[in-house]
Amino acid sequence: MNIPITKPLLGLEEERAVSQVIQSGWLVQGPKVVEFERTVADYVGVQHAVAVSSCTTALHLALILCGIGLGDEVIVPSFTFIATANVVRHTGATPVFVDIDPCTYNLHPEGIEAAITPRTKAIMPVHQIGLAADIDRINVVARQHDLVVIEDAAPAIGAMYKGKRVGDLGNPTCFSFHPRKVITSGEGGMILTNDENLAERARLLRAHGMSLSDLARHQAKNVVIEEYHDIGYNYRMSDLHAAVGIEQMKKLNFILTRRKAIAEQYDAALSDYNEVLQRQPGNAPLFVERGQIFQQLGDSESAKSGGALGLPPPRSVSASRQFVSRTPKFSSIISERSQPGVIATAVPPWGPSSWPCENARRFTLCLTRS
Ligand SMILES: Cc1ncc(COP(=O)(O)O)c(C=O)c1O
Repeated sequence: MNIPITKPLLGLEEERAVSQVIQSGWLVQGPKVVEFERTVADYVGVQHAVAVSSCTTALHLALILCGIGLGDEVIVPSFTFIATANVVRHTGATPVFVDIDPCTYNLHPEGIEAAITPRTKAIMPVHQIGLAADIDRINVVARQHDLVVIEDAAPAIGAMYKGKRVGDLGNPTCFSFHPRKVITSGEGGMILTNDENLAERARLLRAHGMSLSDLARHQAKNVVIEEYHDIGYNYRMSDLHAAVGIEQMKKLNFILTRRKAIAEQYDAALSDYNEVLQRQPGNAPLFVERGQIFQQLGDSESAKSGGALGLPPPRSVSASRQFVSRTPKFSSIISERSQPGVIATAVPPWGPSSWPCENARRFTLCLTRS
């Protein structure tokens, strides 16, 4: 048994969709991108979705559009993928790390207040591995201190928070469609928002700041000349990627149902081990386990020989060399303790249904031996 880090559920549908785009000759920023955006916006329940080349570029644009720049500080969780902190630095601002809640792996709302300074402009919570962050509490702190909230929901399309979908919680929210996420378009990202002005500016900036979209230029009856008022980027999504994304959206409910069923099998099989993270209801399109027990597992012979089948854990980003000297000092006790102890096990929506039980049995066997 070997569960790889990732293996997306792709089939003939995606193959055909890509082939149709190639036959159409319209490869970039065409009708498939618009269709993918509409599909995701309708699914989440927001008015606007702006497709870009990755979640990293989505987060960068969102920060710029919220006015974050040189000299500002942005609060981020210390336990995330490095892109969350990198994009803050790309704007010229400084990421300020706040520790995580050991039960959800997400930004601890109580830690945020202590990290706020006169330079703080934004909070960037992450919905880590599909577990929704406590956005209501974070929004309250943000309102009290007049801060912007931008949600990094890279791994969380389909996650729920208090009956609403992540992406529809009142803040600009960014998804990733990298193959390690819930669904994939190859590479890709999206900004979700109800703010029409923000969406419009994101559309301009993702395509060099061009005043007319490719679609509008192609559809124009007369010659139309575009203008450039802003310094833009090339953060466009191609129609090849969007076509894959549209097909994946048709499979999203199936994928989520299957992942949840697998996660429940793990819960049942590991219920005797109280260090295992209790998932929040309605969440966990991906699955994470925590604690010391997996540190032991990591040292065991069985783990070394491939018995532990896991993803590399999300990192304590604050401990990363490039951030250590550049950011304000803080205490990240939980993140740093979690880093070596966490194994996030893949719950791919395919494969024999006996896998989770077999995998969990191996975990427990290692634990019993260690
Ligand atoms: C929390 C988080 N933010 C941002 C990213 C970056 O996503 P992308 O690879 O689409 O740029 C990732 C990717 O792993 C992530 O996990």
